[in-house]
Amino acid sequence: MIEEINIITKEVDAFNSKSSEEIENFRIAYLGKKGRITQLFTHFKLVPSSEKKEFGRQLNILKSLTSEKIVKLKEELKEQLKSTKSKTDYTIPGQPFDVGSRHPISIIRDQIIEIFSNIGFNISEGPEIEDDWHNFTALNFPEEHPARDMQDTFFINKDIALRTHTSSVQVRVMENNQPPIRTISPGRVYRNEAISARAHCFFHQVEGLYIDKDVSFADMKQTLLYFTKAMFGSETKIRLRPSYFPFTEPSAEVDVSCTICKGKGCNVCKYSGWLEIMGCGMVDPNVLENCKIDPNKFGGYAFGMGIERIAQLKYEVNDLRLYSENDVRFLKQFTPES
Ligand code: PHE
Repeated sequence: MIEEINIITKEVDAFNSKSSEEIENFRIAYLGKKGRITQLFTHFKLVPSSEKKEFGRQLNILKSLTSEKIVKLKEELKEQLKSTKSKTDYTIPGQPFDVGSRHPISIIRDQIIEIFSNIGFNISEGPEIEDDWHNFTALNFPEEHPARDMQDTFFINKDIALRTHTSSVQVRVMENNQPPIRTISPGRVYRNEAISARAHCFFHQVEGLYIDKDVSFADMKQTLLYFTKAMFGSETKIRLRPSYFPFTEPSAEVDVSCTICKGKGCNVCKYSGWLEIMGCGMVDPNVLENCKIDPNKFGGYAFGMGIERIAQLKYEVNDLRLYSENDVRFLKQFTPES
């Protein structure tokens, strides 16, 4: 009998498997109801009483050895399954990366910046949350004057609002620098308008300011002509129509010859041949004075345009909302001109 225990011990020791089915069969063969070790227990009574103690001891050792072996093999199997799962499969085909693209507003903004940088304008930036002084009062909007209603303002409190134009940045530049000043201020502006294809509660502007000695209206007109030719092509013409802004006198609206029909008349320009693209004018002496610049010594011009408007004309996109919806199908159609 002891002999049988020794044989089984050797078999158990030698057994090895990485298959759960084989391990289970092994368990049944040795520890199952009719298993060889279980059988040995039923033979216990046949063992001579002098050997019973030793036989019992060895049989118990064999039983626990076998159970431990089964537990160990099962553990090993589990570990192996885990590690094969996490192994990288280098045969799986790669997933292509989607290459991003630039937003059309950024593309046009950078083009405008480049055109003005080429003739010596620098770039200035300022806060989107502005005080009344920089957005209105310094710019010669009289208090309680209806001119403040021209730009439907989002007020945060009586004195603080979301800027309605980047002219506020130009006030800051004039307060901190003496002429000559040549600067453009690109940035986001906010107006309390119902969102539609033609209006939005925020949009982007580039405004320009030139202050020096002996600056004339003709200087402004030539600069704007240079800009429109660089932006829309050398054939482009401009015309200036009288207008009103509190901070410029005289003031004008700038039209470009229709970029679609080249002035012949089409439904984009409503058969007029012209498209409005910006406001401009000679800086009002009151504004210079408010910003501590002597209007008797210095003068200059200012202009301001909406980037969405320029993008609309360049790309023939007629719905303003598309620019802020972030639909990838729309956005990926634009590439910067090189
Ligand atoms: N600030 C004006 C606007 O937002 C544009 C403008 C700038 C007009 C400079 C004239 C001179 O509408």
